[in-house]
Amino acid sequence: MLRRLHAEQPEGFAFTPANQAWAEAQITKYPEGRQASAIIPLLWRAQEQEGWLSRPAIEHVAAMLDLAYIRALEVATFYFMFQLQPVGSVAHIQICGTTSCMICGAEDLVGLCREKIAAHPHELSADGKFSWEEVECLGACANAPMAQIGKDYFEDLTVEKLSALLDDLAAGKTPRVGPQNGRFASEPAGGVTSLTEFVNAKIKLNASAQLAQDIGDSVKRIDGSEVPLRAPWQGGAQQTAASPAATPAPGADPAPQAETASPGTKPAALDGPREGGPDDLTQIKGIGPKLAKLCNQLGFYHFDQIAAWTDEEVAWVDANLEGFKGRVTRDSWVEQAKVLAS
Ligand code: FES
Repeated sequence: MLRRLHAEQPEGFAFTPANQAWAEAQITKYPEGRQASAIIPLLWRAQEQEGWLSRPAIEHVAAMLDLAYIRALEVATFYFMFQLQPVGSVAHIQICGTTSCMICGAEDLVGLCREKIAAHPHELSADGKFSWEEVECLGACANAPMAQIGKDYFEDLTVEKLSALLDDLAAGKTPRVGPQNGRFASEPAGGVTSLTEFVNAKIKLNASAQLAQDIGDSVKRIDGSEVPLRAPWQGGAQQTAASPAATPAPGADPAPQAETASPGTKPAALDGPREGGPDDLTQIKGIGPKLAKLCNQLGFYHFDQIAAWTDEEVAWVDANLEGFKGRVTRDSWVEQAKVLAS
């Protein structure tokens, strides 16, 4: 399937303050120089907030991770779990169309979606509340046919049951998640035939179904307020957008760095670019706009400066790129700069 950004894009994107703090906390889970690995959780949270991934959202995440936009776009367009067009304001219905579900009636469920939501997948319903698509196996084959709606699975579906679910969701109700035929989980349709002593008559719903019931919701978008922001790897400290450890806001200049006692020798620095202006350091793979500004703050403006760094000088720069330590070695700046300088 061709996966492209939607033709109509919003003006901009910002995480809610709670989601921004959550995203910054996620970045701290990765070792120095490996923050780009946080791309999937951050893109996912952007989608959980908005329902889909717009270009500004992808750009925002790329900037937070100091990644070139194309790198973030590659991830967003590769994985089908990322929605690249607006989805229904209430819910996006994902019907499993793989073998078990297809044998058990998925085609009829797709037919209902075409009739009740929109003629084509990824199209919004007339009232804008729903959209739908067919997806590959969601791993609930024993409860086929099934659909994922929001975070939850609705299993053992029939056309009538899915239709009633859509009506309930449209009316703002919280339909019961999980099997729709009275099953507790994926036990035999006729009831358990073994381990009967473990069947607890008091527990009527499985854990995820019970949770959805308890909080009265299964499709709500995430504003971040439900996520504890204190993380063990942060020493229990509250991480907020304004905290010193926070990643600079996208587009913001990096804070001036205090030079600390560090290994190696500081390379010769310039007070400003030479006549003719600075070189575009972002041509060095691994240097984004923020890192280029940081280099300039340290007095490095030109490819030939970087090309001339010795091992001792590389060690000093690697240790003084606050927030980006180790990037010079990791991305072979000197070798790249030699080519660019020549
Ligand atoms: S085939 Fe539908 S969940 Fe596996």
